Amino acid sequence: MTPAFHDRDGGLFAEDVDLTALAEAVGTPFFCYSSAAMTDRYKALAAVLDPLGVDILFAVKANSNQAVIATLAAAGAGADVVSEGEIRQALAAGVPARRIVFAGVAKTAAEMAFALEAGIGQFNVESFAELTMLDAVAREMGRVAPVGLRVNPDVDAGTHEKITTGRKENKFGVDIAAAPAFFAAAADMAGVDARSMSLHIGSQITQLEPFERAYRGLREMTLALRAAGVTIDHLDLGGGLGIVYADETAPDLNQYARIVRDTVGDLGCRLSVEPGRFLVGNAGILVCQVILVKPGETRDFIFTDGAMNDLIRPTLYEAYHAIRPLRPRGPAQARPADIVGPVCESGDYLGKGRYLPTLEVGDLVAVMGAGAYGAVMASTYNSRPLAPEVLVAGARHHVIRPRLSYAELLARDSVPLWLTDQTVDHGA
Ligand code: LLP
Repeated sequence: MTPAFHDRDGGLFAEDVDLTALAEAVGTPFFCYSSAAMTDRYKALAAVLDPLGVDILFAVKANSNQAVIATLAAAGAGADVVSEGEIRQALAAGVPARRIVFAGVAKTAAEMAFALEAGIGQFNVESFAELTMLDAVAREMGRVAPVGLRVNPDVDAGTHEKITTGRKENKFGVDIAAAPAFFAAAADMAGVDARSMSLHIGSQITQLEPFERAYRGLREMTLALRAAGVTIDHLDLGGGLGIVYADETAPDLNQYARIVRDTVGDLGCRLSVEPGRFLVGNAGILVCQVILVKPGETRDFIFTDGAMNDLIRPTLYEAYHAIRPLRPRGPAQARPADIVGPVCESGDYLGKGRYLPTLEVGDLVAVMGAGAYGAVMASTYNSRPLAPEVLVAGARHHVIRPRLSYAELLARDSVPLWLTDQTVDHGA
């Protein structure tokens, strides 16, 4: 099988596509995804989880391009979504409604109604207020909403502050101790059918121990609820499996599966997981072009046409993304370089203090690990057009989202007549 991103003829390829040629064809910056990389990741996870009957739901928030969702759906994935927009993306990509789970910490009544109408598989509810609201919306529509309670197990996932979700001080879920009260309340509501619990403790988790603790808590609560006469027949184990960006140790999948089996495998529940980053993170890169080189006192500044508006992870989470020239001119230099964008903020950088081969204006660089939380978090800050996304499969490529044109960028605004038509009375 062709490796996803690899060197061939002195330059970086995505499967059988020469990225230098692709850059010429689509312009820079652009995101490039490898179908094989996504499918392989899915298969690796399915290989250990299928025997346990665990359903894999792709967390669409990581990359909601319909072509990406469709690639994973073709491999067998359902979808974990957090908004009406993501439900629409998943449906448009061909995910069957019943394989869509609607998570999200504060759904609106309109979103609930849309999801009920579409016939999605489950709502993961995160508060009593939300449960009451969903019950009302469903009754009004003459429906019964399948519900799972998202519990907060108060487990520290040991990940970055901004992407940890399973501690008491986070806004997510209902304290696991309140689960009996939640199911008791749900039992009296005609619009909901609550038989499931879910949790998600954070993202980019590289230690398996937090999963084990959280799943054990879920097991204990399932047994306690059953003892109290509550039916629990499904558990959603969340996402969060970390990947290698730099020198992290990737969690061992067999060990992860063992933990699932040992903690919740014997409960007779249907099980599901919601990986996002794991499936797509290293299946994508951001290709940028060097537009200016500025020697500094202690380091060089390499300006690229890609910036924080394209990939905000370094700025927002101090995240590390490996950066390399598509075609290295030689060995790494002794002098460090900051790879920065043209956006007017000191926080606008893609990588700091990197030891890279010499880079000259016009050279192309790849920012690795940009398949998850890259394009989906991009903005037009500084009126920069959104970068295109390109999907590669073997020797084929397809622009799965074109670059936003300046015409489209300008057309998004509307200037009122009183500012443009001098004959209008300004009322001053
Ligand atoms: N399920 C739920 C309920 C979630 O909140 C998330 C992610 C996932 C699944 C998928 O997590 P994953 O498998 O991708 O770790 N923008 C941040 C990550 C935010 C994650 C939010 N929730 C980043 O770039 O690191």
